[in-house]
Amino acid sequence: MPIAQVIQASKEFKSGDSIIVALKPSSMELETGKLTLIIGPSGSGKTTLLSLMGCVIYPTTGEVVIDGVRTSTLNANKMAHLRLNKIGFVFQQFNLIAPLSAEQNVMLPLTLMGKGQAEARKKAREAMEKVNMLHRAKSLPKMLSGGEQQRISIARALATDPPIMLCDEPTASLDTESAHTVMEELKMLANEGKAIAIVTHDMRLKPYADEIIYVSGGEISKNEIIQTI
Ligand SMILES: Nc1ncnc2c1ncn2[C@@H]1O[C@H](COP(=O)(O)OP(=O)(O)OP(=O)(O)O)[C@@H](O)[C@H]1O
Ligand SMILES: [Mg+2]
Repeated sequence: MPIAQVIQASKEFKSGDSIIVALKPSSMELETGKLTLIIGPSGSGKTTLLSLMGCVIYPTTGEVVIDGVRTSTLNANKMAHLRLNKIGFVFQQFNLIAPLSAEQNVMLPLTLMGKGQAEARKKAREAMEKVNMLHRAKSLPKMLSGGEQQRISIARALATDPPIMLCDEPTASLDTESAHTVMEELKMLANEGKAIAIVTHDMRLKPYADEIIYVSGGEISKNEIIQTI
């Protein structure tokens, strides 16, 4: 069974008297162990699709099912709990907290979960090791390159060991070499069993994909499954 399912979900936003259709009824799934790219032009509905899957916004119609749970049945509290336990987020602008060290940033979601300091530190260090950043645990974000900051934000998303990782333009602020390092890390995490979705404009990321979903004009226009030999 897929770990995340968007089933005929749509999203409309009200803007004054008019209604903006950000996403027409669309369906897609994420599978454990696979890296899915979501590609499309600006304004096509990619972030909307990712936000629906991440339970950050509610669909206007349709349903989002995470790990077998129909999210429409959850209240805000239960939804927040599900988000914290099942989903890690990575953004274009790393969103690290400036006065906190890399390690303290990675510990944050664990502290939010109610873990004690010692356990949070242990898990944070394991997550940093996965993205080869343990040696920079004590550095402040400003002391790190863009690629390194992004790897720390991947570690932060990974710290709670969620089965799903959702990334919105994770390589857009990076040079080519750092972008490839970040993609190698994400691909490795998919190979180890995470379900990973990445929104991008960047066609250079295609070789990393197991599946590509093309979005245009607020709908999914094509779905391409990459056969690996
Ligand atoms: N909160 C909102 N209120 C009103 N309109 C919105 C809102 N969020 C998105 N939209 C509109 O929905 C459409 C799809 O937006 P979305 O952010 O999903 O596009 P995108 O494909 O991620 O674009 P980009 O590549 O520029 O990030 C756009 O026309 C956008 O203006
Ligand atoms: Mg977007």
